[in-house]
Order: sequence, then C-alpha cells, then structure tokens
Amino acid sequence: MLSKKMEDALNDQINAELYSAYLYMSMSAYFEAEGLNGFAQWMKAQAQEEQLHAEKFYSYINERDGRVILKAVDAPPFKWDSALAVFKDILAHEQKVTGLINHLVDLAIEQKDHAAHQFLQWFVEEQVEEESSVRSVIDELNLIGGGGSGMFMLNRELGQRVFAQDTAE
Ligand code: FEO
Repeated sequence: MLSKKMEDALNDQINAELYSAYLYMSMSAYFEAEGLNGFAQWMKAQAQEEQLHAEKFYSYINERDGRVILKAVDAPPFKWDSALAVFKDILAHEQKVTGLINHLVDLAIEQKDHAAHQFLQWFVEEQVEEESSVRSVIDELNLIGGGGSGMFMLNRELGQRVFAQDTAE
C-alpha cells in the first residue's frame, strides 16, 4: 500500500503529465495556425505520449491500492514568437518535469518504497530521451535560422512522427 505522502505526490504527477499533454496540444494548435502541419503533428504525438504517462501513474496508484484524485489542469500558453521559441519552452518544461520525477524518486528512497522506486525508473529514462530529442530539434532550428527550405524540410521530417503506444511504452 502507498503512503499518503507518496499517493499525494503521484496524484500531483498525474496533473503534471496532463498539463504537459495540454501544453503540447496548445503548441500543436499554434503550429496548425502557422501552417506548419508537420510541427503540429509532432506536437500531437507528443501530447498523446503525455496522456499515456498520466495513465501510467493513474494505473499504478490503483495497482497499489491507492486513490486517484484528479485536480484542475492549468491553462497552457497559446502564443509563441517562433518555432525555436516553442522548442526552447519545451526544453525548459521537460527539465522541470525531470526535476519532479527526481523528486518522486527521492521520496521513494526516503520511504524505502522499493516498488515505487522501480516503477519510476522508466520515467527517469524517458526524461533523458525527451530532453535529448528536443535538444536535437533546437540544434536543427538554430542551423536553419528560421526560414526557407530548411524549415520546409524539417516540417516534413517532424510530420512523420506518429504516436505508437507500443514504442511509447
Ligand atoms: Fe511526461 Fe514529457 O514527460
């Protein structure tokens, strides 16, 4: 059984993951409006992954005989100056999420909750991957310099991303 402190922290993480999904949907809508459909598709797949992350925490709380309590999700921003600004915001956001996951791991260690500690390892790895893939897009955007055929190519490349539950797990 989960401690109350761990249950609360895992419930907070459901909220953080749902906020992430909401943020990426908002970014997807921004790119749709800018006519960058490939970027929009990438964001939509990212939002679906975040929804899956929330569901993983949801299932885990239930599995440990805890109680899932859903809270209000904050409204995300909806306007950015450029694609680069969006991806810089994503990196900052994911670094924040990494901090939250690390905090959960610290709590699991403090409470000697070995099961929660093991469950959280998937997220520790996932954060390394997420930060790295966002950094690669930032590097490409910096190389391109914000326009022309480079953006056309990158838009096409990012548009190939599809959400696949099997690979997201
Ligand atoms: Fe659920 Fe982007 O971490």
